[in-house]
Amino acid sequence: MTKRDAELKEAAYLEAEMNKELVESDPYRLKHHIMPPVGLLNDPNGFIQWKGVYHLFYQWMPFKTGHGAKFWGHYTSQDLVNWKHEPIALAPSEWYEKNGCYSGSAVDAFGKMHLFYTGNVKDENGERETYQCLAVSEDGLHFEKKGVVAELPEGYTAHFRDPKVWEHDGKWYMVVGAQTTDLKGRTAIFSSEDLMKWTYLGDVAGSHTEQLGEFGYMWECPDLFHLDGKDILIVSPQGLKPQGMLYQNVYQSGYFSGKLDYESAKLTHGDFTELDRGFDFYAPQTTEDEKGRRLLFAWMSVPDQAEDKHPTIKHKWIHNMTFPRKLSMHGGKLIQKPVEELEALRKTEEAVPGIRLQAGEQHQTAGTVSELKLENLAVRSGLSISIKNNAVLHYSSEEKVFTLTRTSYADGKPESRQCMLEHLSSLHVFVDTSSIEVFINDGEEVFTARFFPEPGEKSIMVSAEGEAAFDLKKWEL
Ligand code: FRU
Repeated sequence: MTKRDAELKEAAYLEAEMNKELVESDPYRLKHHIMPPVGLLNDPNGFIQWKGVYHLFYQWMPFKTGHGAKFWGHYTSQDLVNWKHEPIALAPSEWYEKNGCYSGSAVDAFGKMHLFYTGNVKDENGERETYQCLAVSEDGLHFEKKGVVAELPEGYTAHFRDPKVWEHDGKWYMVVGAQTTDLKGRTAIFSSEDLMKWTYLGDVAGSHTEQLGEFGYMWECPDLFHLDGKDILIVSPQGLKPQGMLYQNVYQSGYFSGKLDYESAKLTHGDFTELDRGFDFYAPQTTEDEKGRRLLFAWMSVPDQAEDKHPTIKHKWIHNMTFPRKLSMHGGKLIQKPVEELEALRKTEEAVPGIRLQAGEQHQTAGTVSELKLENLAVRSGLSISIKNNAVLHYSSEEKVFTLTRTSYADGKPESRQCMLEHLSSLHVFVDTSSIEVFINDGEEVFTARFFPEPGEKSIMVSAEGEAAFDLKKWEL
């Protein structure tokens, strides 16, 4: 560890220590989600199960609740439920990363954990440079920086970052989020025999094609993997214009499903589908664990989306991760389910089978940190679930539209996100203090959002507009 490295880490620990009480006294602090000890958390990085242990790193700015020269914070877990905060993995101490150890990924090779990340550099005039870097660990806790392993290829701006690495047929591949010099979003791809020397192969996919048309000026955080017979490319494109119910957030996150031809390094793919329909979901990253499951974490926020108005910044912290989700393909669609390990969080159970509500009738319950399941749903006309008097889930069986409305933390007005939904059969909802994750029809659609009810508010109210029948289960977590 260099002197600069030690100083930066020390300053970050001190910042966390000094603000511990203020941060932890926030009534909006979550109970079971991954958060920063102080400052700002953004993308999940380096998600891997390594020698049995789950590692999740995160983009971390310890010194303020805004963005800047990011560190890699580090959590580990045996079970995806209980997480331990580990020593900082990477601090932006070297010339090639002095303005941030930006997002990246982890792989196991030769028994060592390899972290690939972007070294972000800005000169005095704010001109950006970008380097794809490597750090290696033998114990999963201490990381030795190996420096720059891939330079910026011609034809791209310095918005070239977030390497995601995987192995295929004995060779290594890396996708990188990219922007061409004429401002088109791309996913670039490299290959390597030894993880040290990388050869640029081209773009696997990108905007401004005949198929996609104008589809963003920058594609951040790519992830490419094989799942249930398909090659899936997840990206977070910037610059999509709202289109009806679609692309309502400042930036999007979604996937293309298709086939990657490793010879030509091109992905033949279908349309882009947003992964989440809520307000707060970005930069997801997946890994395959030792059980062979494809798991996903995402940042529960979106860059540049009223971050300066966020209610938690007065407590000197901001943002968190989603719960981990398991991915599968079903009928050409990516399905997301909360990992089953989360069941270990359940404490008290309330089960009310066979609820029938007539127009205007309500079923009242309550919870602070809760899991809610409505199953065998039959809805005529409309169903609403009001949560803590601040967020409302609504399904209209006539319009076939599902809506999440919350009270905006920026201006106090109601705001909504929606998606089309043919049929509603089940709802699985996690409420953790100031976050909500709604899994519809066993993960066919998901809505993720932060919300900020009055602290202490517990009400959960299900009401019917026409007629509704369902079985209800609720657990305090
Ligand atoms: C996405 C992102 C990445 C970048 C990181 C910096 O939220 O902008 O592209 O690597 O955050 O923190």
